[in-house]
Formats: sequence, C-alpha cells, structure tokens
Amino acid sequence: MRDPHRVAILISGRGSNMQELVEQSNGYQVVLVASNKPLAAGLEWVRSRGLPTWTWDSKGVAKERWDEALCQALDDHRIGTVALAGFMRILSPWFIDRWRGRIVNIHPSLLPKYRGLDTHQRAIDAGDTVGGCSVHVVTEELDAGEVLGSAEVPIEPDDTHDTLEQRVLAAEHLLYPRILSEFVRR
Ligand code: GRF
Repeated sequence: MRDPHRVAILISGRGSNMQELVEQSNGYQVVLVASNKPLAAGLEWVRSRGLPTWTWDSKGVAKERWDEALCQALDDHRIGTVALAGFMRILSPWFIDRWRGRIVNIHPSLLPKYRGLDTHQRAIDAGDTVGGCSVHVVTEELDAGEVLGSAEVPIEPDDTHDTLEQRVLAAEHLLYPRILSEFVRR
C-alpha cells in the first residue's frame, strides 16, 4: 500500500520550489528528492539537510531504463505522492499510468493558458495584465491534467520576462506547499 503522505520531489535544476515544499511541509513528509541531473543546484541543499537523494544522469540512457530505475527508487522509499518541481523531463506513459492521480506539477501560468515552455514571454507578448501559476495533476498530455489550484499576479506594463518570472516564482512558493498539503489529504 502506498502512503500518500510520503512524498518524493523530482527536480532538474535550482529547486527553489522543492525547498519550499520541504520547509513548509504540513501533513506530508518529503522522504526523497530525485533528479535526472546529478549536478542540479538544488541537490546540495537537500544533502545539507540530510535528506535522501536519488540521481542518475539521464543523458544517453534509454528512457525506459531511466524511468524504471526511478520507479524502483520510489517503491524502495514507499512513496505515495510524486511532486514535480522544475523537472525538465517527460515521463513515460506507463510510468504516469502506474502513478495515475498521484503525480502533481507546478506550472508557471494560469492553466489552461500557456501550456509548455516560455510562459512568461508569451503572456507579455499577448498583452495580458494578469499572469500566475497553477498546480495540476500530471497526465499523459503536457500540462493538461486537473488543476488543483492557481495563484494570480499582476503583469505590469514595464515587466520583462525576468521581472515577471520573479513575481510568479514568489507566488509559486506560497501556492505549491498549500496545494500539496490539501492533495495528500484527499
Ligand atoms: C518554476 O517556475 C516552475 O513553475 C517550473 O519550473 C520552475 C522551477 O523552478 N515548472 P525551481 O527549480 O523550483 O526554482
């Protein structure tokens, strides 16, 4: 039986959302941080906290093999919920099926607007006055699963990609821990 309160976070880079999920954990426990990038900046922080990590450089490894190894690591740690946080990799359909309804992700737009990459520039180019972020359930279709919650931020006329990214990121850091703690209870 998988325990939904036992959470693994998957990262590929800086890991600022991952840090907030660990520090603000409420009703769940982060028991593993996994990465496809052994040099991901966020891993240093995880290790300094004494939290277990699992990493395997996915470069040059067949997708199937990498995803199977990840699945094994999650099972070894009796993970019940998987939280993607800047994880820059598409998971295999069989993996998503195996974890159906138990994988969540944070996306830097107000879904269903701007699925995929470059969300901030696309919002600015469209002349939007409101942007934001969403936490959603991961399905086979990119950024298209049930939206569990979202947070809005204003887009100012002089915003650049970087200023908007910063504002949205601050909203992500509040939204994701709150939604994850609701999600593991349902
Ligand atoms: C965040 O903007 C998140 O919405 C997106 O990737 C970025 C990850 O940032 N999925 P960080 O690694 O959590 O700092």
